[in-house]
Amino acid sequence: MNHQRIYIRSKKRVWDKVPGLIVALGLILSQACTHEAVSPGSGDPNVDPQDMPCDPEVVYFENEILPILRSNCAKSGCHDAATHESDIILDTYENVMASDIIRPFDSEDSDLFEVITETDPDKVMPEPPNQRLNAEQIALIRQWIDQGAEELFCDDPNTPCATENISYSGFVAPLLATNCVGCHSGGTPSGNIVLNSHSAVQTLALNGRLFGAISWANGYQPMPQGSAKLSACNIDKINAWINDGAPDN
Ligand code: HEC
Repeated sequence: MNHQRIYIRSKKRVWDKVPGLIVALGLILSQACTHEAVSPGSGDPNVDPQDMPCDPEVVYFENEILPILRSNCAKSGCHDAATHESDIILDTYENVMASDIIRPFDSEDSDLFEVITETDPDKVMPEPPNQRLNAEQIALIRQWIDQGAEELFCDDPNTPCATENISYSGFVAPLLATNCVGCHSGGTPSGNIVLNSHSAVQTLALNGRLFGAISWANGYQPMPQGSAKLSACNIDKINAWINDGAPDN
């Protein structure tokens, strides 16, 4: 794996589009006022954000890891910024790394990996009755740490969105598992909405609430709560599956 080839997301995408001189001026000014805008290694302003293809061998923090942490860990009463249980906050890359639970390139020695794979019910995270992370989520987190635990983002705006034959088991359920099920399962599911059984999801799909929530339509709570909107392609795919009758396929 060649880590050098990986594009790193720029913090301020708008900077990518302005000429170098203004970038330099902006850097000086921002250094003078706040250090937040330029954190080391956060991005190369020369990389065009339109040109960040997803390499299937790379795990991208922003696309694949952050949604898992937000949905399962950065919840109220646990590891959101307000609660910061055990001084661990898992809502942004900076906070994840500052929580001292990740050792880049060494998943075995990373506390995050240890607690999600723990077999002792008193020690495992997320705590019961919350659902454990599934094998695929655990494998992604392991791979991300072992690839260096970088803040990576990819975007394939030119890849056409295939909305034919969307299956519940192959697409909808894994997407919900990553982005939603952490809050919407267990003994006290958020909003009393359960998203880890087909029949429950189908009911919400057919009464319009699922699409209303993920498309951030008026009159619905925007979901996933506290995170970025799902990509337009993922929303289109779910919509296509709903229009097919939300089958258990
Ligand atoms: C961090 C926790 C969290 C995550 C992640 C999350 N939700 Fe929610 N969701 C909530 C809470 C809390 C409510 C209840 C909000 C309220 O009633 O004020 C809610 C409400 C909803 C509702 C009802 C909305 C309405 O207005 O009728 C739907 C549908 C829903 N969520 C779907 C989803 C889907 C789909 C995802 C993933 C794409 C998701 N949620 C991710 C916490 C979460």
